[in-house]
Amino acid sequence: MSTVKEELFGFFDRLGQDHRLFRFLYNLNAQDFRPGVDAVYYSGPYWDKEELAAMMEALLTGRWLTSGEHVYHFERAFSSRFNQGHSVMVNSGSSANLVMVAALKRHFDWQDGDEVILSVVGFPTTVAPLVQNGLVPKFVDIRLSDLNFDLDGVEAAIGPRTRGIFVSPVLGNPPDMTRLKALCTERGLQLVLDDCDSLGSKWDGLLLSDYAVASSCSFYPAHHLCTGEGGMVSSNLEEVVTIARSLAWWGRDCYCVGPANLLPNGTCGKRFDRWLPDDDCVIDHKYLFTQMGYNLKPLDMQGAVGLVQLGKVDEIHRLRRENKAKIEAMFQRHVPEARVIVEDERAETSWFGVPIHCADKSLKQHLVAFLEANKIQTRNYFAGNILSHPAYAHLGRADDFPLAQRVLAEVFFVGCTPTYNAAMLAHIDETLSRFEGSLRVV
Ligand SMILES: Cc1ncc(COP(=O)(O)O)c(C=O)c1O
Repeated sequence: MSTVKEELFGFFDRLGQDHRLFRFLYNLNAQDFRPGVDAVYYSGPYWDKEELAAMMEALLTGRWLTSGEHVYHFERAFSSRFNQGHSVMVNSGSSANLVMVAALKRHFDWQDGDEVILSVVGFPTTVAPLVQNGLVPKFVDIRLSDLNFDLDGVEAAIGPRTRGIFVSPVLGNPPDMTRLKALCTERGLQLVLDDCDSLGSKWDGLLLSDYAVASSCSFYPAHHLCTGEGGMVSSNLEEVVTIARSLAWWGRDCYCVGPANLLPNGTCGKRFDRWLPDDDCVIDHKYLFTQMGYNLKPLDMQGAVGLVQLGKVDEIHRLRRENKAKIEAMFQRHVPEARVIVEDERAETSWFGVPIHCADKSLKQHLVAFLEANKIQTRNYFAGNILSHPAYAHLGRADDFPLAQRVLAEVFFVGCTPTYNAAMLAHIDETLSRFEGSLRVV
């Protein structure tokens, strides 16, 4: 008798023969790519039928649909793959940052008004969770060489109320992690990592998360691993992950995960006990609330897909690096006025995209317009200077960060996703060569 997976594979094969959209997700778009007609997406799920089957099998055989056995196994496998003692999966990278910061604040007894240093350029939900947790973001300008925050600036920003440094490497490319770590050790600060864009990146042979007290990552389709939506908080400090889990699970005290939910007396061994000090009745630990929480749980199907994706980490790392190198060479060949950011010799970057710094605003505008007209997706380096956005303007003056002010005007990125095939790469090369020609005509 055939397995559920074999049945599903047969079904996918039949569907894949007729449906173009399905073929795209199925990662069979390679042979179909039409230059200038089909979009070269800046990223996308690096999935094949294994992920689809895992998702459907979890759906068809799952008893509870929401976080359960698959999420539990994914959390454990993820921890072991990335050298972390503990992990909790949540429904996005933004949620991961939200509960990670809250958990660190609780664990280290940070107070409202304490400060955390971070780059003024980056993704909004690296910043927002600090404010949402009553902390004060202390912004530092970037340096143009790698677009990361300037470490001299980080050092100068440390004050009596500084508790941590929140590093979020630009498109995966880390700043000097050895210096950051030493600074934190010397000044009694915690190094926190937003690893959403840099999962798998290394510095001096170590994963970036090895330098941090806790890290977050995202499984949104643009990122290294994709579960549709999703995120993870990881740490070697068990309490940090326990608090983060509680916050993501309505604030409850119970920490049973996956199969432990079936234990009659729970992981704690006293599920039914007198949990409320002022109340003599016996209650179920599952309904004891020690945090004012949220519901940020993922579906079990996302955990099932995550497990399959985890098996591709090395391949994704290699392909992202190879594609980055190829695209970098194309820009160097055809548009030397556009500088591609390169990694430090101590880094082994798992590139999220190919960051490009144009000599001026007009070059960026023309280049982006040309690439987009040729169906090659481009992106801003996210928010640029976060203080120039309406929601964040009250946190400081954008003008105080002159280099960050140049990011939206001069910087953009294109993808280097493992879903690129030779035809897509050839189309990027050919488009850039035509752009070079158009510059000469002007
Ligand atoms: C650095 C960084 N942090 C956080 C996030 C948020 O992740 P998510 O989209 O999963 O909420 C992103 C999203 O791209 C990001 O790039």
